[in-house]
Amino acid sequence: MSRISIHGEWSSRMAFIMAATGSAVGLGNIWKFPYMTGQYGGGAFVITYLLCIAILCLPVMMAEVMLGKRGRSSPINTMRHLAQENNQSKLWRLLGWSGVIAGFLILSYYSVIAGWALAYIPSLASGTFTAVNTMSPTEITGFVDSVFKSLVENPVQLTAWHTGFIFITMLMVAGGVKGGLERAVTFMMPALFILLLVLVGYAISTPNFMQGFNFMFNINFNDLLYPNCTEAVCKFSGEGLLAAMGQAFFSLSLGMGAIMVYGAYLPKDASVSKVTTAVVVADTSVAILAGLIIFPIVFSNGLEPNAGVGLVFKTLPIAFGQMPFGTLFGTLFFVLLVLAALSSSISLIEPAVAWLVETGKFTRASASVVSGIIVWLIGLITVFSFNIWSDVKPLAGLNLFELINYLTSNIMLPLIGLLIAVFVGWLMQKSTIAEELNLSANSIGYHIWYFLLRYVTPLGVGIVFLNAIGVFS
Ligand code: PHE
Repeated sequence: MSRISIHGEWSSRMAFIMAATGSAVGLGNIWKFPYMTGQYGGGAFVITYLLCIAILCLPVMMAEVMLGKRGRSSPINTMRHLAQENNQSKLWRLLGWSGVIAGFLILSYYSVIAGWALAYIPSLASGTFTAVNTMSPTEITGFVDSVFKSLVENPVQLTAWHTGFIFITMLMVAGGVKGGLERAVTFMMPALFILLLVLVGYAISTPNFMQGFNFMFNINFNDLLYPNCTEAVCKFSGEGLLAAMGQAFFSLSLGMGAIMVYGAYLPKDASVSKVTTAVVVADTSVAILAGLIIFPIVFSNGLEPNAGVGLVFKTLPIAFGQMPFGTLFGTLFFVLLVLAALSSSISLIEPAVAWLVETGKFTRASASVVSGIIVWLIGLITVFSFNIWSDVKPLAGLNLFELINYLTSNIMLPLIGLLIAVFVGWLMQKSTIAEELNLSANSIGYHIWYFLLRYVTPLGVGIVFLNAIGVFS
């Protein structure tokens, strides 16, 4: 049986790889991965993240692409078709719905952070950061702190940049699969990668490159499992492991239907395992490169690795302020970061837009506008959590932005990922799966994948969840 996507298809396998890489590579790699690595002590976080990618996430990603390829529609309708086809409960479509909700919530703050990157473009282009050349290390720290603070503490500015970012996202999504999404990502991903390599070259030239490198790769699990410990007896916490797992799902765009809906536009004959592996390798490399750029700059300038969400916005400008052609490279870098964020944001909203179009009541354009407005409104919560609502901490000492961030990355994405693993691993017909994967059900690759998906992913995600709520301590 074969369905046809009403939204069109990628023009080639390569176009899918570009788009899915575009979705995966974004603020998650360049903004979030470094600051989380910094907060959870370095190497142990990095290794846990890598293990989660390889053992838990890669199998889920293949499953998501496969589901999309089979269902050929928005995640909500894909799950509806496939539940029916496999005689499973109608409730499975809730998985598609949860994905749409997670996508809206993630995009609501993603857009605000991307707005910071937008705001940094004029700052860099006008040479603001060349001032660091005449400053002492303490002055540099104070200066980059104040530039960052004056941005995030200003709700009007933040709202303006957030609005700009959502607006561009809506325009691109309205352009459709081929015209909008595909065209945009094919040139910007390679450009970003090249610029990252230039920056790694710069980072190697800083005096503390090795300290940064060691921070990322020296594995000390105490930093992860007993965070912020200064006393003789430290308190165990499963939070670090949960954060690393959440980051792995977030970075690969899993558990919210983005990859599923992109899979729906995949040509029938594409090999799911090959395209998925390519995306995972590209995404992971960008995260590691970003860390290798940022930590040497942190240590060479006396900054703290655990500076939190502002880390990248405080470190990179120092590098650009100091390096030759820094104004040019710096401007270009933030432009590319915004583009990388856009290629992720369009995938965050695509499941909802595709569903609205499938209802028959919306055109692509009106669906993009409606979804964009909803996300924009939710985004105001994040805008205000950095200023007028910064003291509103309804739960566990987290402000509203931190709560949305925590809820989506650490809970929703892995949980939906787990349910996808259960659906594909336990409830779907094996013959259908093999057909869509373009793999023989007898090949070794298939067996390994199936085993990981059936047992390892659900158990792994489950154990990390239970551990985080303290069941094992
Ligand atoms: N993977 C994107 C990033 O790392 C974010 C994202 C998450 C995109 C979930 C789509 C779905 O920036």
